[in-house]
Amino acid sequence: MPARTVKTQKPVRAADLLAWYDVHRRELPWRARAGRKADPYRVWLSEIMLQQTTVQAVGPYFAKFLKAWPTVKALAAAEQDEVLTAWAGLGYYARARNLHAAAKTVATEHGGLFPDTYEGLRALPGIGDYTAGAIAAIAFDLPHAAMDANAERVIARVYAIDEPLPKSKPAMRAALQALVPEKRAGDFAQALMDLGSAICTPKRPSCGRCPWEAGCLARKRGIQEELPVKAPKAVRPLKRGAAFVARDASGAVLLVKRPEKGLLGGMMQPPLGPWTEEFPSHEEAMRQAPFRAAWKKRTGVVRHGFTHFELEIEVYAAELATRPRADGRWVDDLSTAALPTVMKKIVEHAFGDDGPLFVQARSARKR
Ligand code: ADE
Repeated sequence: MPARTVKTQKPVRAADLLAWYDVHRRELPWRARAGRKADPYRVWLSEIMLQQTTVQAVGPYFAKFLKAWPTVKALAAAEQDEVLTAWAGLGYYARARNLHAAAKTVATEHGGLFPDTYEGLRALPGIGDYTAGAIAAIAFDLPHAAMDANAERVIARVYAIDEPLPKSKPAMRAALQALVPEKRAGDFAQALMDLGSAICTPKRPSCGRCPWEAGCLARKRGIQEELPVKAPKAVRPLKRGAAFVARDASGAVLLVKRPEKGLLGGMMQPPLGPWTEEFPSHEEAMRQAPFRAAWKKRTGVVRHGFTHFELEIEVYAAELATRPRADGRWVDDLSTAALPTVMKKIVEHAFGDDGPLFVQARSARKR
């Protein structure tokens, strides 16, 4: 009688993913050609931009930054305002301030060369575990893992880890690190990103095309779409306030600078009242306004989601024949100001009926 064959689960191996990557790798502006060394400056710049932001949205910003500042030393020599202006629209502006601070550190303390160790990279402003691992692997081929949300999804599935995030993070990290190959760690990290983006997608993953299908425990159990399990999100509180958008006869708009520290630090905005539970009454809003004028409240509100709260703003607009005395700067060309997306939305809401004030308005945020 023939021995019963036991069907064993095929192990998940880096080699199968790398073979898939050699055929299916994405061409991305910051990526080195196959087999070439990556430029640490490009890798770092792209990784900072790609924190919380999609590949598609990052593309034009990456090109703009490289053109303006082709080297880390050039970026270090830029004014912070120039960097914030170029960053405007990408969101999470602490990233831009840290980017600039890190460029200065690399230029002054490391002679313009990025540290080539995980620890050296991790010590730079704006670089956490994920980014240090990604740069160490991609720029220097060191055997480090880059555990982002894509990698978490893939790992949760191949090993059927059903403990909810974030509690399962240490287990996932260990599982991923064990897979990282000694050679081609950079390709491995990027292959995982491509797999997460093209195959092992959050909904309806294309398991039939996955190089790890035969070893994937979630697939075997048919639970791939249920993983990873996430702890329920806290409900974000709602804050409300009023904005005052004044325009003079030449079309210049009054902007003020936000404090350097805190939310949207150092960025520009029209004068805003405080953010509280309710909108101010008309009388209250008139007390908050930066000066007396024929302020007209626009219908509707501007909504914007921040990480920890939702914001709703009512917009008061004023057309002025002459400029009153007011703190701030009258700005003719709004594209030269470091205006975050929410503030662009507010200015648009005030005067958008007169035609487009900005060219680009697209969500850059990762889901
Ligand atoms: N997401 C984060 N880093 C990335 C990279 N280098 N390529 C593609 N997607 C990414």
